Amino acid sequence: MGFLEAEGVTRRFGGLAAVDDLSFEVREGEILGIIGPNGAGKTTLLNLISALLPVTAGAIQLRGRPITGLAPHEVAHLGVARTFQIVKPLKGLSVRENVAVGAMFGQSDGGRPTRPALAKADQEDAAAGAGRFHGKLPDRQSGSRHQASPPGPPIPSPSSPSRTASA
Ligand SMILES: Nc1ncnc2c1ncn2[C@@H]1O[C@H](COP(=O)(O)OP(=O)(O)OP(=O)(O)O)[C@@H](O)[C@H]1O
Ligand SMILES: [Mg+2]
Repeated sequence: MGFLEAEGVTRRFGGLAAVDDLSFEVREGEILGIIGPNGAGKTTLLNLISALLPVTAGAIQLRGRPITGLAPHEVAHLGVARTFQIVKPLKGLSVRENVAVGAMFGQSDGGRPTRPALAKADQEDAAAGAGRFHGKLPDRQSGSRHQASPPGPPIPSPSSPSRTASA
């Protein structure tokens, strides 16, 4: 039995079958990539596995247990982690709380409750230079992070001679 199995998985958007009758099996410990041209259905498949979207047809199983029909948080609690191409903070939360949210999930023991997760965020804050997260909202923090970055070598603009010469 596969660790993660899909059988006849289909997702339609109106008349468009973004994922059409897809079956595959991933064994435990196996690392696989999914490739295909733009619009091939890669993101849609990841959305189906992580339950952000419901399947139109077919079934997905994790360790032999059907996960189609579960809510995204239920699938996450079973151990399916998902990252996004564009990482966005939870804007209503402080930077400290955003880091704590990251510490709450993805633990083999089912995750940290709020207080230990906040303690982990404080640990990370101390490692990054104490007090940098505290009370700050993500937008302001990302601005100050740019200001705090040490100056690096100048990045040539697309029109600069060195870039043009090497293109
Ligand atoms: N929410 C949606 N509503 C309608 N059509 C959608 C939706 N999401 C994706 N599609 C369509 O489904 C098809 C598959 O899209 P998907 O984003 O999964 O492709 P992809 O392989 O991830 O592409 P890319 O390489 O550009 O990221 C595309 O034709 C896309 O326009
Ligand atoms: Mg995509």
